[in-house]
Amino acid sequence: MNLKRFGLIAVAYVSFWCAVALAEGTFDSTVSDSALSGGQTSVFNSSRDAFAKPTANLPTEDLRDFTFGNKIFNTKWVTAPASVASLDGLGPTFNRSSCSACHFKDGRGRPPIAGELYMKSMLMRLSVPGIAEDGGPKGHEIYGTQLSNNAINGVPAEGYTRITYEEISGTYDDGMTYRLRKPSYEFVDLGYGPLGDDILFSPRVAPAVHGMGLLEAIPEEIILSLADANDENGDGISGRPNMVWDAVKGKQALGRFGWKANVATLRQQDAAAAQGDAGVTTSLFPEQNCTPAQKECLAAIDGGTPEMSDKQLEKMTFYVSTLAVPARRDVDVQDVIAGARLFEKASCVACHAPQLRTGKHEVAALSDQDIQPFTDLLLHDMGEELSDNRPDYQASGSEWRTPPLWGVGLVKTVNKHSFFLHDGRARNLEEAVLWHGGEAAKSRDMFKAMSADERQALIAFLNSL
Ligand code: HEC
Ligand code: HEC
Repeated sequence: MNLKRFGLIAVAYVSFWCAVALAEGTFDSTVSDSALSGGQTSVFNSSRDAFAKPTANLPTEDLRDFTFGNKIFNTKWVTAPASVASLDGLGPTFNRSSCSACHFKDGRGRPPIAGELYMKSMLMRLSVPGIAEDGGPKGHEIYGTQLSNNAINGVPAEGYTRITYEEISGTYDDGMTYRLRKPSYEFVDLGYGPLGDDILFSPRVAPAVHGMGLLEAIPEEIILSLADANDENGDGISGRPNMVWDAVKGKQALGRFGWKANVATLRQQDAAAAQGDAGVTTSLFPEQNCTPAQKECLAAIDGGTPEMSDKQLEKMTFYVSTLAVPARRDVDVQDVIAGARLFEKASCVACHAPQLRTGKHEVAALSDQDIQPFTDLLLHDMGEELSDNRPDYQASGSEWRTPPLWGVGLVKTVNKHSFFLHDGRARNLEEAVLWHGGEAAKSRDMFKAMSADERQALIAFLNSL
């Protein structure tokens, strides 16, 4: 950790612990700041719609745009030509026909469960060794950079992924045992021939999309100041930014979105998702999602150029930017307070940064907010076990962006499951922590060394986020 990073985190600690102290006070009738994960944007909602609300401070006149954007996010795109021309253009190849199919209730996806044949809210990124012109992963000549498990009539789908799990067991220092499941992947029903031996792949579940605008509003200097690429302070935790291609600016930019911080801005993330996940083109990414070898795909009728209008893309991006972060719950419960201390003691905060402040954002409601995202948006080496062996811009196979933890305690309510980590291998929060390795191995070992009560307190804290 460099000095600047230390300074920032020290400031963060002080306010974080003041907030915890506030929570301990019994006479404070106002809501303590520690509950306000998204600052003044936070919403008090712990229902199934907890991730689906506009920021609390959004001016009323902006609600129309939010609602319009919500509609585009939920739209099931249909095959062109259709009677509603503004909502056609699905495919030719695609994964799902709407954003909300994967980001259900603006929440997170999961791997298939027993009896389900294919990935419904998760996808498989593909590439071959080498780098593309833009510095990103080099697409497979025939399959491109993502396996599309769906296609419109007359066009072959690319294929499916079958996941099998191997159960492995381990032991906490107190002798209690635990079980984890390690995934392996097999490609089946490939529509365009074999993928080849040098195929690189990265399974990724859809992350929840609340709080995205706040993450975009964190000043770049702050994120860079948290980096300590060469681990100069020798704490075993480095953290470095991913530098990715910004297609709008036509140059390299700091990556923030995606499991490897592989996309720079929300607008590009949304347009890339429209193209890559639903096969819907935008002025930003106007090409159909076909490779030169996919003849039927190339010959298919499109839904206009582009298929999603600039207005639709703009409103959808506004919607995703202004989805609010739910306020914390149970901040004054003893276990939760104890868990917060353990979270610090085990150095979880070295990556899951507890407090940051947003700068200026074009959406005024997101500007100058004290937030508790529990991420530094940096890449960390998480060890061989979590590695996908697939580089993504500067990120190596074993490096992943620290995911924000706000809202993790509500995933079960919103999405009716508790699968965590990039590939959903963890069946609950405890397993997610146990899979930590690499730079986070020390933290994981401290978790394993805790008493059962302490572990339960730490999980109670995570559930309060
Ligand atoms: C097939 C499932 C699927 C569909 C459909 C889908 N997404 Fe995603 N989404 C994902 C996955 C997987 C990721 C993580 C991508 C990565 O790591 O590269 C993601 C990431 C995102 C992120 C960034 C989240 C973060 O934490 O950084 C946003 C925003 C987003 N998607 C918006 C959209 C929008 C808008 C649409 C519709 C146009 C959409 N998605 C459609 C699966 C999907
Ligand atoms: C070195 C940085 C680092 C440290 C230290 C660290 N984490 Fe993480 N954490 C990550 C990264 C990166 C991921 C994503 C890994 C993946 O998906 O494969 C992650 C994932 C998680 C997740 C799952 C989130 C999700 O959306 O799926 C939880 C929960 C979590 N960490 C809790 C903790 C706790 C508790 C500690 C301390 C015991 C801790 N982490 C320490 C970097 C870190």
